[in-house]
Order: sequence, then structure tokens, then C-alpha cells
Amino acid sequence: MSAPQVLILGAPGAGKGTQSARIAEEYGIEHVTTGDALRSNKDMDISHMDTEYDTPRAYMEAGDLVPDAVVDAIVEEALSGAEGFVLDGYPRNLAQAETLADVTDLDVVLVLEVAREELIERLTGRRVCEGCGTNYHVEFDRPEEAGVCDECGGELIQREDDNREAVENRLDVFEENTAPVVEHYRDHEGFVAIDGEQSPDGVWADISAAIDERAG
Ligand code: AP5
Repeated sequence: MSAPQVLILGAPGAGKGTQSARIAEEYGIEHVTTGDALRSNKDMDISHMDTEYDTPRAYMEAGDLVPDAVVDAIVEEALSGAEGFVLDGYPRNLAQAETLADVTDLDVVLVLEVAREELIERLTGRRVCEGCGTNYHVEFDRPEEAGVCDECGGELIQREDDNREAVENRLDVFEENTAPVVEHYRDHEGFVAIDGEQSPDGVWADISAAIDERAG
């Protein structure tokens, strides 16, 4: 199999980060994620782009979209050197989807489907390792020692946008801006809808079968 070019779509909390990490490891490809890239550059000065706020931080903490020009530049740069990738967190609106079509082709377009109430429960209970980024959940996926990462011993924290108010706004922003992106890709020959409410291993089984079939 040549290195697959995979897009993973889904609402906040659908499991994109969890599954993308596994896809990247299993297929030896890059994990390109706009969320992590922006979290690493929260205080970047974007005032020269004539944006409402001067840094990505204000948009992200409210759960709003960061301006297209900022994320388009991140994705173009990341994909230009990639030999196969799983793209997570982009495109989030139709304008970004058009930009992506100018930059690369896609072999597989996955969409993880999960109901809103389940998404709220997952996100408000999520804890993330400050050191290595591994995800946990206060009920469904606890570390061996409370507050400490099993992988690297780092401290587990709650993301600033995982409070109830920001989560509700992120889900509204998804419905308004990103649900049309899912519809846009529905006719793509690599499109596959996945039941994201299964266990992580159940979701993975469907994803790996879809990639093997479409990019094999
Ligand atoms: P981003 O980091 O992309 O956040 P998101 O899309 O809101 O996605 P999440 O990372 O919250 O969820 P996920 O689907 O990856 O779920 P996860 O695997 O962690 O973006 C953050 C912000 O950046 C945006 O709000 C925006 O401001 C900005 N931004 C990013 N991209 C942008 C763009 N293109 N344009 C403009 N702005 C942009 O899982 C969630 C939880 O569920 C975890 O606790 C996990 O353990 C658990 N879980 C996962 N799978 C399962 C399962 N199968 N069963 C039970 N629990 C599960």
C-alpha cells in the first residue's frame, strides 16, 4: 500500500484525536492536526492579518473558529512535506474545503458519527496529559494513578475549552459550519461513515478496514 492520504471528520469529542494517533502509528504517516498546532501557537501575533482578535487564544477559549488565513497556512505547510497523512480538525467550513482541494487529493474521507449528549459527556470528562498529550476520561478511561499520565508521568489537566459553556458553543459551531463540510464530501469515492459510539477498538476495526479497502 502506498502511504494513504486520509481525512477524518466529526464533531468535537467524536474521537478524531484518539483514532488519528492510531492511524498515524499503524500506517506510518503524519498526524496533521490544526487543534494541536494552534494550541502550540496560542499567543502567536496574528494582528497583521486584520483579524478580530490579535491571537488564536481568544477564539479557541470561546470555542469559535480561528480565522481561515491562519489555519490554511498551517495546513499548507504541514502537507507540503508529508508522504501520506491523516488530517484532523480541518476543513471546518466550506471555504477551507475549497482550499484543501487546491492543495492535495484524498484517498479516504472518514466521518465519526456520535450523538450530542454523548459528545458533551466525553468532552467535559476528558483530561489531557500536559507532557505527551495522551487523552483520558474521568469515568471511561482512568489513569492508574489519579491525575498522572500512565505513559510519561506528566500531569493531567482539563483543556480550557472543555468546560460546559465552551463545549456547547463548539458543538453549535460544528452544526453551523462543519456539518455542511460532511455533506460536501458525501459523494467523494473514499467517503465512509463510521459509528463512533462503539468502543475505541470497535471504531478502530471499522476505520482500518475502510483504509485497507480504499487505499490498499
Ligand atoms: P480541536 O483540537 O480540533 O478540537 P475539536 O474538533 O473540538 O476536537 P477534540 O480534540 O475536542 O475532539 P476529538 O474528536 O479529537 O475527540 P478525542 O479523541 O479527544 O480544535 C480546538 C479549537 O481549535 C477549535 O475550537 C477552534 O477554535 C480551533 N481550530 C482547530 N481547527 C480549526 C480550523 N480548521 N479552523 C478554525 N479553527 C480551528 O476524544 C474525546 C474524549 O472522548 C476523550 O476523553 C476520549 O478518551 C473519549 N473517547 C474517544 N473515543 C471514545 C469512544 N469510542 N468511546 C468512549 N470514549 C471515547
